[in-house]
Amino acid sequence: MKLLNQFDDLTILEWIGLFTASVWIVYKPCKLVVSWLLNRFSCASRRLLRPSGDEYAIITGATDGIGFEYARQLAQKGYNLLLISRTESKLKFVAAELTQQFGHKVDYHVADFSDQTIYNGIRAKLDELTSPIHVLVNNVGTAYPTPEYFTDYPQDWQLNLINTNITSMTMMSDIVLRKMLKQEKRSWVNNRGIIINISSMAGTTELPLFSTYAASKSYINNLSKTLSFEYEKDDIIVQTVMPNQVDTKLAKNLRQPETVVSVESYVRYALNTVGTEQSTNGHPKHKILNNLGILLGELIPERWFMLFKFKVSKHLKQTYEERQRRSILDSEKNNNKVGNNS
Ligand SMILES: NC(=O)c1ccc[n+]([C@@H]2O[C@H](COP(=O)([O-])OP(=O)(O)OC[C@H]3O[C@@H](n4cnc5c(N)ncnc54)[C@H](OP(=O)(O)O)[C@@H]3O)[C@@H](O)[C@H]2O)c1
Repeated sequence: MKLLNQFDDLTILEWIGLFTASVWIVYKPCKLVVSWLLNRFSCASRRLLRPSGDEYAIITGATDGIGFEYARQLAQKGYNLLLISRTESKLKFVAAELTQQFGHKVDYHVADFSDQTIYNGIRAKLDELTSPIHVLVNNVGTAYPTPEYFTDYPQDWQLNLINTNITSMTMMSDIVLRKMLKQEKRSWVNNRGIIINISSMAGTTELPLFSTYAASKSYINNLSKTLSFEYEKDDIIVQTVMPNQVDTKLAKNLRQPETVVSVESYVRYALNTVGTEQSTNGHPKHKILNNLGILLGELIPERWFMLFKFKVSKHLKQTYEERQRRSILDSEKNNNKVGNNS
């Protein structure tokens, strides 16, 4: 009762503060739980992500990690696949494996997305497809192996990153959207096509020592959201997926056990959000992390938040350097053992 009486004396500013705090403390966790339940039990993604015939799903960067897992799980749902990646031997192997496992058509096209001149070849390949395209997963992406200052990276790395992360998503969306718009609307399900853009949680903020990577993912978030709005009228779904750490070779140097999730579980959760979340962190663990990050960003001054992120990046760099030192020491020890034994 005493506690309740204290509310009588609150000023308007204190009420605003109390309201904001309640939103964060009550509304946000409730929203997380509701979205988890929606994705777990709603049939939206199962209804939307189902080929009506022998439709194609196209996946860029499809021979490994998140891209491979999207390809595998989409094949499991019944799609034919077109895999676009740069290493022909890996593409051949993955295509054979997925055909054998699921029995659908799995085609591939070799292209290096760091090169801007590949798009006529891709357009021609897509023209050859005999069935409509229903899904595009713009997954290909690259990152710096370690956190560094902007000018400590060679300029060709910056260009490589911009082409692989930004140009690829822009050009592939352009090529495929034009095709989807010409395709018949699927009568039995309310969408004409689905584009899934793999961004990163890094794209939701500025990230010292990961500057160009975070900025490239921020571009993806921005364009993806706009395309989602522009093509809603044509029944095309455009989704942005923003993972934190997923157990793939891309982030192996910087992995932190507390945040990393398996690639199979990540993609399963992320696919369940198609049709219910335009923009998603995909996995419940990553949604919680993202919300904590946003909360921290709102609570502390911008410069402090920047310093905090800088410290996290530096910590990742130190962890990486420590792992490198240990692996050099281990290999020296092993070499000495071999030398002593022989
Ligand atoms: N893993 C994470 O923790 C994490 C977190 C946030 C966001 N992401 C995003 O998720 C996406 C996939 O990452 P991942 O971790 O799955 O990566 P990954 O395991 O390194 O796999 C990358 C795939 O892309 C292909 N690829 C790379 N560069 C290419 C290029 N220039 N041209 C054509 N193909 C290329 C690779 O082919 P090769 O095998 O031939 O190199 C491989 O198939 C990226 O956009 C990344 O930014 C990942």
